[in-house]
Amino acid sequence: MKIGIMGFGVVGSGVGEIIANSPDGLLSRSGEKIEIARILDLRDFPDSPFHCFTKDFQDILNDDQIEIVAEVMGGTKPAYEFTRQLLLAGKHVVTSNKELVAKHGTELLKIAEEKNVNYLFEASVGGGIPIIRPLYSSLSANELTDVLGILNGTTNYILTQMIKAGESFEDALHGAQEKGYAEKDPTADVEGYDTCRKIAILASLAFGKYVNSEAIETEGITKITLEDVAYAEAIGGVIKLIGMASKAKDGVYARVCPAILKKEHPLAGIDDVFNGIMVKGDAIGDVMFYGRGAGSLPTASAVVSDIIDIVKHKDKHIRLGWTEGTPGYLKDGAEQEFRFYIRLTGDAD
Ligand code: HSE
Repeated sequence: MKIGIMGFGVVGSGVGEIIANSPDGLLSRSGEKIEIARILDLRDFPDSPFHCFTKDFQDILNDDQIEIVAEVMGGTKPAYEFTRQLLLAGKHVVTSNKELVAKHGTELLKIAEEKNVNYLFEASVGGGIPIIRPLYSSLSANELTDVLGILNGTTNYILTQMIKAGESFEDALHGAQEKGYAEKDPTADVEGYDTCRKIAILASLAFGKYVNSEAIETEGITKITLEDVAYAEAIGGVIKLIGMASKAKDGVYARVCPAILKKEHPLAGIDDVFNGIMVKGDAIGDVMFYGRGAGSLPTASAVVSDIIDIVKHKDKHIRLGWTEGTPGYLKDGAEQEFRFYIRLTGDAD
């Protein structure tokens, strides 16, 4: 089975490493030897063990032998157009690109269904943590009512440093950048946009209707001070950036905000770059997922698992997704329905 990789950054190089390190090219796990035929990236990698780089997307699109493509370039331009063209050409696409799935997932999933191929995105939320597949498969016997989680490793690292080492937000952010957790422009993480896209994807899958990330009230952690941290400590809690979504009577309530979790809360002890996600279903009750939510090999682990799944079910469209149209959002008066959290006091509206 020949595959293509689009983007050879943190995740793409991890995908390459997992496949290259497998002695049988993942044959025993997937049923076919998986071979990287093309890697698309505009940069040069003279020291890379791979010799199949291209700067031209057409080399992947027009190669009939490439059946699966991992889109790990991030952003929507040109990832959206590339993914569309690949699916229309009858190729399977797997991705870690939460921005693309949150924005254009409805359309891309529809094309995949029409073309009898797959668009899988396990790596888009929670890095290596299996959370997408449980929502559409392992938990599908349940009516899911709540999804709640720490979905961003960078901000969780920053908050952990503020809580445990007494660092200011600025110092902790700087440390996160030095360690390579936070990007030079950390806006998407610290303003909560990354968490917002992820909870939108989880809510869409869990409740079956498209939840538009742009409709979710979102507040990041830039206003959190050491005074807030001390206040939380004084009342027996810790501050975490939470993404949450709940099924309400007439729609979906979703929000991203810093919250004080009581120390006994299952998510309160999740520190550093780890993520944790709680899901509530009518049959199973609470179920929790925990692990590395970011990083090269953890995220690549999810990408490669999607590739293996497609190889195993090659001629089959795996049904997942949501219906079009907004479910109706509840912004006011719904907070009391939440059992999980206490809203952070201070300059909250
Ligand atoms: N910036 C993201 C995080 C990467 O820190 O969680 C994984 O989506």
